[in-house]
Amino acid sequence: MGVDVAVSNLTKRFGKQLIWADVSLTLPAGEISVMLGPSGTGKSVFLKALIGLIKPDEGSILIEGTDIASCSEKELYEVRKLFGVLFQDGAMFGSMNLYDNVAFPLREHTRKSESEIRDIVMEKMDLVGLLGAEFKLPGEISGGMRKRAGLARALVLDPEILLIDEPDSGLDPVRTSFINQLFVDLNAQIDATFLIVTHDVHSVRIVPDQIGLLYHKHLAMYGPREMLLSSDEPVVRQFLNAQTVGPIGMSEEKDADQLAAEQGIDLPPLPPIPLQLEPSNGIPRRSQRPPGEWCRLNGITPPPGSFTKEAEHASGASQQAH
Ligand SMILES: Nc1ncnc2c1ncn2[C@@H]1O[C@H](COP(=O)(O)OP(=O)(O)OP(=O)(O)O)[C@@H](O)[C@H]1O
Ligand SMILES: [Mg+2]
Repeated sequence: MGVDVAVSNLTKRFGKQLIWADVSLTLPAGEISVMLGPSGTGKSVFLKALIGLIKPDEGSILIEGTDIASCSEKELYEVRKLFGVLFQDGAMFGSMNLYDNVAFPLREHTRKSESEIRDIVMEKMDLVGLLGAEFKLPGEISGGMRKRAGLARALVLDPEILLIDEPDSGLDPVRTSFINQLFVDLNAQIDATFLIVTHDVHSVRIVPDQIGLLYHKHLAMYGPREMLLSSDEPVVRQFLNAQTVGPIGMSEEKDADQLAAEQGIDLPPLPPIPLQLEPSNGIPRRSQRPPGEWCRLNGITPPPGSFTKEAEHASGASQQAH
């Protein structure tokens, strides 16, 4: 079914280095959220905080009444069973073949027989398109295949909450489209709460229900997809449209000279908001809203051409693979 993850006033430092402060958001049950942000803004640290691998300095993370930020190890062990996680580096055991890697959580956390485990492992390997590669070692396959194996492993315990760190880094555009479709289909099927960290602006525009942006040590914005895609807030606008004009520079913040030089340069118009990616069986997901609903309810005029097939092409969705 998926459960809410309620984050309040979360702050994390490593020694003197502040990573982010006062982050508050709720990942709505069963919805797909995407977290964006320049490299090094603490997206992976945020994801690790959500499963209690990194302790925040302040704030709370409530999941079904348990505060991950302050609960005991025993409570944490129980709550962790709700999660499936794909870490940024895949985090596969190098000496185990893919089959044993994917079977690992089942052997560790359940009393299932080896034949039951086999059925589950093969089902998930099939789901991520890895049938036939079960006996390969992680070092013998491509980065994209490792990501998909990590995803199969994240799915074996039927998670209520799925955390996925950069599933598309190192993937070619066609495979990225396949993996986007896989997430949407999976969400429709298992109804779990998804948090996906990604840099891929195209994926962000078509996949999620909610979008968050971490920037300059705080959560710049978090909300419905249409809210961010129609936003005039400079950082949000620059990031979501992959533009060079705006407050974000190569080393996160531009210096004053550079910003002054940009004074008077008009930002390019907002591109149309594309239609959201639908499950491949055509049946809408439970958390999917009708196109344009958020804009209508909030009196926002979306950029011209939004919510049309053409808008999909404008943002590159024509690469979508079926
Ligand atoms: N265990 C740790 N101890 C100390 N510092 C850490 C630790 N983990 C992360 N950091 C620091 O926290 C900051 C944020 O790192 P993080 O990996 O979360 O960035 P990110 O947003 O995921 O970046 P990318 O997009 O490149 O993956 C970095 O400066 C990093 O060096
Ligand atoms: Mg990261």
